[in-house]
Amino acid sequence: MDFEISIEKVKNSRILEFDTENIGFGKIFSDHMFVSDWNGEEWTNHRIIPYGPFTLSPATSAIHYGQSIFEGMKAFGSTKNDHDVLMFRPEENAKRLNRSAKRMAMPEIPEDLFLAGISKLLDIDRNWVPRTEGGSLYIRPFMFATDDFIGVKPSNHYTFAIFCCPVGPYYNKPLRVKVEEEYSRAAPGGVGFTKSAGNYAASMYPTALAQAEGYDQVLWTDSATHKLVEETGTTNFFAVFGNTIVTPELTDTLLAGTTRESVILSLRSMGYQVEERKLPIQELKDSLAAGTLSELFITGTAATLINIDGFGHNGEYFSVITQGNQNISTQVKTFLDDIKLERTADTQGWIIRI
Ligand code: COI
Repeated sequence: MDFEISIEKVKNSRILEFDTENIGFGKIFSDHMFVSDWNGEEWTNHRIIPYGPFTLSPATSAIHYGQSIFEGMKAFGSTKNDHDVLMFRPEENAKRLNRSAKRMAMPEIPEDLFLAGISKLLDIDRNWVPRTEGGSLYIRPFMFATDDFIGVKPSNHYTFAIFCCPVGPYYNKPLRVKVEEEYSRAAPGGVGFTKSAGNYAASMYPTALAQAEGYDQVLWTDSATHKLVEETGTTNFFAVFGNTIVTPELTDTLLAGTTRESVILSLRSMGYQVEERKLPIQELKDSLAAGTLSELFITGTAATLINIDGFGHNGEYFSVITQGNQNISTQVKTFLDDIKLERTADTQGWIIRI
């Protein structure tokens, strides 16, 4: 379906203020954003406008009752052609946004409108895609409730918008994670599988406590027993036992990462065995002691793929990185990076070219 998208371009681009040698993460925003409004019946008024603030009522429903969901995806500069911008599996983000929307009683967005908005925005802001090693353009689609109304009920009006940030790596060294046994990220029947703002808000206090103890992140465990690995505060989780790689099975308490699924499919295509199953903390400890746990790594759009240095459990630190090499994680990261940057053929059909 063709969508009419009006375009208002910036008078003066900010691109010359952008220091490509010093990108960081999430602090620089490209010139334009895409916006569309839900009027109670349909998405209307699709527009590309200069990146800038929204005007909101103090009673805006999203602020009080939390109907606010988002996605994270990246665009890459092709290494074959300086003009081309490549998106990685964007339809997966559209599907996940709609799973979040349904659970949060928000309107779903047609996948082709989601893709049309991103494609048009990337076309206009293509010069913002960093071409430096490790750089990419992070894309943030999001939706929030805009009724000005006090009372707990789904809003009638919503804004869907997309903006972009040129970014470097989210993490630049292997992480020290704390196995979280007191606080919970999600419980069965809850909203753990959604990418909703409140899930991240609830993680901040336990993460701050872990960071005060010298960790980088929490490793969330199941809320019933705190014995099974779920995910970290920002990523999915993988453990390597020889040639078998294990990642926690998806339930309604885990976020179904696109990078997670791409890693699983890539590892299988490389001949490794991947198991999606329950992963007890005790198994990590036992196999580390037995010398059969060789690598731990985490995956996410922002984080890409990065190793775990070790994990803290019951006040004891278990160093993993010293035990093994990073063979398998490095192999699969290179495999995926080569596809994303067009260094190799996209045999999986994962790339969309702008
Ligand atoms: C992402 O990986 O895209 C996220 O939304 C997580 C956040 C750490 C930026």
